[in-house]
Amino acid sequence: MITKSKSQVIYTSFHIYTSFHRLRRLLTTFHFLPRATTMAAHHPHDHKAHMENIRELFSSDFARTYNERTGGCNILLANHLISLVKPHLPSPSSASQLRILDSACGPLVLSTQCMKDDSIMQQYPSVHISAVDLSEDFIKHSQQIIDSTPAWNSDGKTIDTAVMNGMDLKFLDNTFDVAFTSLAIFAYPDPIKCAKELLRTLKPGGVAALTTWKRVGWVPLLHEVEALVRPGQELSKFPFLEPWQVPGKLEQTLTDGGLQDVVESDVLAYAWFDNEEKAAKSLSDTLKLLVGSEWEEAEKERMSDGFKQVMASESKYVMRGEGGKVGFEMVAWTGVGKK
Ligand SMILES: C[S@@+](CC[C@H](N)C(=O)[O-])C[C@H]1O[C@@H](n2cnc3c(N)ncnc32)[C@H](O)[C@@H]1O
Repeated sequence: MITKSKSQVIYTSFHIYTSFHRLRRLLTTFHFLPRATTMAAHHPHDHKAHMENIRELFSSDFARTYNERTGGCNILLANHLISLVKPHLPSPSSASQLRILDSACGPLVLSTQCMKDDSIMQQYPSVHISAVDLSEDFIKHSQQIIDSTPAWNSDGKTIDTAVMNGMDLKFLDNTFDVAFTSLAIFAYPDPIKCAKELLRTLKPGGVAALTTWKRVGWVPLLHEVEALVRPGQELSKFPFLEPWQVPGKLEQTLTDGGLQDVVESDVLAYAWFDNEEKAAKSLSDTLKLLVGSEWEEAEKERMSDGFKQVMASESKYVMRGEGGKVGFEMVAWTGVGKK
């Protein structure tokens, strides 16, 4: 018979309790578990839990490896969003300075692509980007990138960062010409508040541009992994993404927030990884955080090997590129609206 000392039992119970508590908070943020009250979309505790969870999930390790984990699909989306806002920018002769907001910036994703965009940077005498995110670790990492890129604070360019909630921006009314929020609104407890804050801080005539996921290419791959590492069990679902996959959800949210002439469209992006090993690591590092409590720890440990097998297989969801690269398709919704 296996017996445990009292201290072992207490330690194990405490460990189970804290793991459960942590997991529960993570799952609640991403809507895997029902919230304490159902009308909770605007409940203050949701906001508190959301803030704690985002800070916990988007930690320093995530910040460092974020762009590898996405396989670059977010960068393709950033460039696409920039192309969508260009027709709405003020004429360079009338604007002494172009003000850009990169809200929920992650590791400066939209900011970086704006800084690299010569047609923006060379047209305006001055461009000022404000990059904000709820995660202190992402902002710390972003500030390190800025400190090591002096060109971003010279020749009429300026970029600054702040830890800030996208639903409670600390900027004055009528500040920005352009405001981005890419791949974040689906995690917000109050998405309409996000739209209202973008509207408030835009100058009259300013433009907001956002993205959410329409089709997430790693979901069917994960299901193939599940058939290998936890066969016969229910396949994982991602309820935090599902409401946003429906056409019109992003458009309605932006319209409800007061933005005008909102146009929603979809766009195909790709996640590419150097090889099967790197794809498996990137995907499993992130998805271990997102799968529900149905997955046991031992199953999570097998996830990376499962992805390696699936990536090496004839799966119809895996694309093959030159030099052993592997990838998959992602489809996003974009929403663009004006003040
Ligand atoms: C999936 S990442 C997207 C990052 C980047 N925009 C991109 O295009 O890749 C989501 C980001 O949203 C941030 N975030 C989540 N909730 C937020 C909130 N309420 N306010 C500001 N940022 C938030 C997270 O910290 C994380 O950096």
